[in-house]
Amino acid sequence: MLIFIVAISSGLAWLLGSGMRPMIRNAFAAFHEPGAGMSQAAGLTSEDKPVGPSEPVTSIMNEPKSRAARGKSTSRPVRIIVAMTGATGAVLGIRILEILRDMGVETHLIVSRWAAETLRYEGNYSIKDVKALATFCYAHNDAGALPSSGSFQTDGMIVVPCSMRTLSAIRTGFADDLICRAADVTIKEHRKLVLVARETPLSPIHLANMLALAQMQDVIIFPPVPAFYTRPKSLSDIVDQSVGRMIDMLGLESDHFPRWNGMDPSKA
Ligand SMILES: Cc1cc2nc3c(=O)[nH]c(=O)nc-3n(C[C@H](O)[C@H](O)[C@H](O)COP(=O)(O)O)c2cc1C
Repeated sequence: MLIFIVAISSGLAWLLGSGMRPMIRNAFAAFHEPGAGMSQAAGLTSEDKPVGPSEPVTSIMNEPKSRAARGKSTSRPVRIIVAMTGATGAVLGIRILEILRDMGVETHLIVSRWAAETLRYEGNYSIKDVKALATFCYAHNDAGALPSSGSFQTDGMIVVPCSMRTLSAIRTGFADDLICRAADVTIKEHRKLVLVARETPLSPIHLANMLALAQMQDVIIFPPVPAFYTRPKSLSDIVDQSVGRMIDMLGLESDHFPRWNGMDPSKA
């Protein structure tokens, strides 16, 4: 027995003293750092790995605010899943990522295949630029990524823009990709889910799907419809107002857009 114990202890001492040490340290780190270690476990390519901002976050503005600092019960940062799908309006997803970053919110980004195509078609942003705005990114087909599980706690999810395809899949619980799975999890865990549903005109199928979802607790259908009473002077005014209201729907507060302050007699 004594010989057995001595053999086991010296084996352990050898392992710890050898090249195993970094591996053991990494394995423990994976439990503590969201995204870290998960990509290896899921066998992702470097393109698909959860990636952080290109530079370590240094400014206090970009530091994810802890929930404790916001009066919640744990010390993790405020954490939002942002999904972009193939409806037109990629700029809305981009702007929301920028604002959440400035607010110090930890974002987990998933971009569908058709969102990536639409993004390329619509503007000057590359997919790489967009990923750099998020704290962590996942491949849309990675069913093993963190947002796939309810035990990965978040403060909600926004699909922006949300295509009618993704909307219908979420409505029926057809969780065949990470976006629909994360939305399914968000609903079952009774967390906030904001769907920036974009299509026009709307068919009875679209409307039925939206109604079914809107009747679920914690689901908000938020079509990106501009408000004209704000007298927007540019597209960016329209985008900021819409995105500001979307952030309100997530239960967060931003001051990136002018709020209604009562009738201005000079305009009435
Ligand atoms: C330029 C472009 C614009 C599109 N705009 C919309 C749209 O506004 N709403 C929509 O539901 N689908 C739109 N589509 C179609 C979707 O991209 C398509 O249904 C796709 O399968 C959605 O897949 P996803 O939900 O996985 O992103 C658009 C496609 C392209 C190429």
